[in-house]
Amino acid sequence: MLGVCYYPEQWPTSLWREDARRMKALGLTYVRIGEFAWSRFEPQPGVYDFAWFDEIITILGEAGLKVVIGTPTATPPKWLIDRHPDILPVDPDTGRVRGFGSRRHYDFSSQVYLEESKRITLALAERYGQNPHVAGWQTDNEISCHDTTLSASPAAKAGFQAWCAARYGDIQALNTAWGNVFWSMEYRGFDEIELPVGAVTETNPSHRMAYRRYSSDQVIAFHDAQVKILRADSPGRFVTHNFIPMNETGVDNHALAADLDFAAYDNYPLGRTDLLMAGESADAFRPYMRTGHPDFGTFFFDQTRGLAPGAFWIMEQQPGPVNWANHNPRPAPGMVRLWTLEAFAHGAGVVSYFRWRQAPFAQEQMHAGLLRPDSTQAAAWPEIEAVVRDLAALDLDQSPTVRAKVALMVDVQAQWLGEIERQGRSYDYTHILLDHYRALRALGLDVDFVPPEGDVSGYALVVIPALATPSEKTIANLKASSALVVFGPRSGAKTDDLTLPEGLPPGRLRELLPIRVLSIETLRPDCSDVLSWNGKAYASMMWREEIELAGEAEVVARYDDGGPAIVRSGKTLYVASLTDREFLADFLEGLCAEAGVATQRLDRNVRVRRRGGLTFAFNYNEEPIAAPAPEGAKFVLGGATIGPRDAAVWKDPA
Ligand code: GAL
Repeated sequence: MLGVCYYPEQWPTSLWREDARRMKALGLTYVRIGEFAWSRFEPQPGVYDFAWFDEIITILGEAGLKVVIGTPTATPPKWLIDRHPDILPVDPDTGRVRGFGSRRHYDFSSQVYLEESKRITLALAERYGQNPHVAGWQTDNEISCHDTTLSASPAAKAGFQAWCAARYGDIQALNTAWGNVFWSMEYRGFDEIELPVGAVTETNPSHRMAYRRYSSDQVIAFHDAQVKILRADSPGRFVTHNFIPMNETGVDNHALAADLDFAAYDNYPLGRTDLLMAGESADAFRPYMRTGHPDFGTFFFDQTRGLAPGAFWIMEQQPGPVNWANHNPRPAPGMVRLWTLEAFAHGAGVVSYFRWRQAPFAQEQMHAGLLRPDSTQAAAWPEIEAVVRDLAALDLDQSPTVRAKVALMVDVQAQWLGEIERQGRSYDYTHILLDHYRALRALGLDVDFVPPEGDVSGYALVVIPALATPSEKTIANLKASSALVVFGPRSGAKTDDLTLPEGLPPGRLRELLPIRVLSIETLRPDCSDVLSWNGKAYASMMWREEIELAGEAEVVARYDDGGPAIVRSGKTLYVASLTDREFLADFLEGLCAEAGVATQRLDRNVRVRRRGGLTFAFNYNEEPIAAPAPEGAKFVLGGATIGPRDAAVWKDPA
């Protein structure tokens, strides 16, 4: 269940056999190779050199390892760019061409690049698709990383105009849908439409939403072309992709994953914690500096698991200090093992480390590997040896992941809406989603992520922090489910074109809940008001909606002026304000009790997660702590006291 990312092209061939032997001896099974090696696969236009790749695949296979090939399309070689400079993307903020010299220097709207990427994918698929040592494929690499979804190239503009024509049919329909009469923005034809970049001030939100959707569609079309080729020429092998979070790419990851066997995630907990806690004080940050925050890695594990049916993979796991975050501390001793076990607890099928050996050159020479550049063992090595022993004790094949009782709905449209129309500077959809996740996890709950039109049957509680533009299908699914459903503010806020719905928000959601949102205010995050619930005062924070009942509904909580802040009708609740985590914990705990879902208040640095009949507990503290296990628990790993940065796994008493 373990693997590693390996770059044979970066090392003398004399090292390959010994590398393969040591990988196998360590207990690794999968080796991902090839994803940046285009200049070696095709050193001259149309002249392929696969001899070296044949050799390394044979060496790895004969050593008893399984190969995952990455298509090399994240790094088009120099000769290709020189032949077709219009492959390069254009930065929408500056209008400058983003040049050769790093990676991801291609435009998703470039038809030339689409054809070239299909050509190299086909060449690899034809040669290795049936190779007995090849277990599967990774498409491209972290598609859309480094802010590459949006491009302001001429190809993007032409593609966008065509996309608008296909969607709206008639230019007057587009003008009406977007409200272009405002500020004389009306167009006479689709060929007049600009990309919403470089204007004097704010461009029309409807226009920006269309550009987001178009750009996401381009990424998906580019990606799906590769999947199609791999499926045709490599039967019986899996196809996956190593995703990065949707909030960093602006791509609809659910749509991107639709044709994959399973989704993979690249787990760099320290860098992510540095980014997600950028706004917090040193005292708040320091405890997690070398461990990562206990809810941040799993937030993305659970999202990735929800993207595609199979057990997700960690395709890249941080083994030591990296090079790309604001600061790059070393993981605390034990954390590489803990993160690995945590991924398995959350349903991972495989955890693969990045990278085998630290490179002594180029951009990532400061990035740790399992080996140092001189091939001696780096700090993570003994932790992986420990993981191998843990896995033998756990026998995870016998413990498949089961559906959680609680679902969190994740909505890319709400993310885009929040980015396009902030309304309050600190409005941040990802942090809102994360706050709900943290509250649920602090209650000891397992959480599944579902997309807006996903299957919600079988859940006892569905939490929807914001659902920007609910579709008929989503509403029908929610109506049909027996779950308690809680909406957060800004749900039903917009039409599909990002205008206000008829009869005021929450528009279509009135089918579930008879309310009208009369007005909205946003406040500085450090200037909260009061929300009274259950006889207690909590904080009503930066986003506050004034609501009116438009039918039979119960007021569950009120603002300090007496107006309704939470409203309920049947099994649907609407929370009209952004609250604090203390409120979320109390409120969600109450709903779980009503829905028959057991909760357990955990230490803030301890988390639990179930997989099949096993319960895992992770202690992020510097001190030992009592395992939050029931009496009579049968420990499979660890025991009743969990050491610092350690884990325990038990089976509940029969
Ligand atoms: C990932 C990327 C890898 C490598 C790694 C370094 O985002 O997929 O190629 O750059 O980061 O941490």
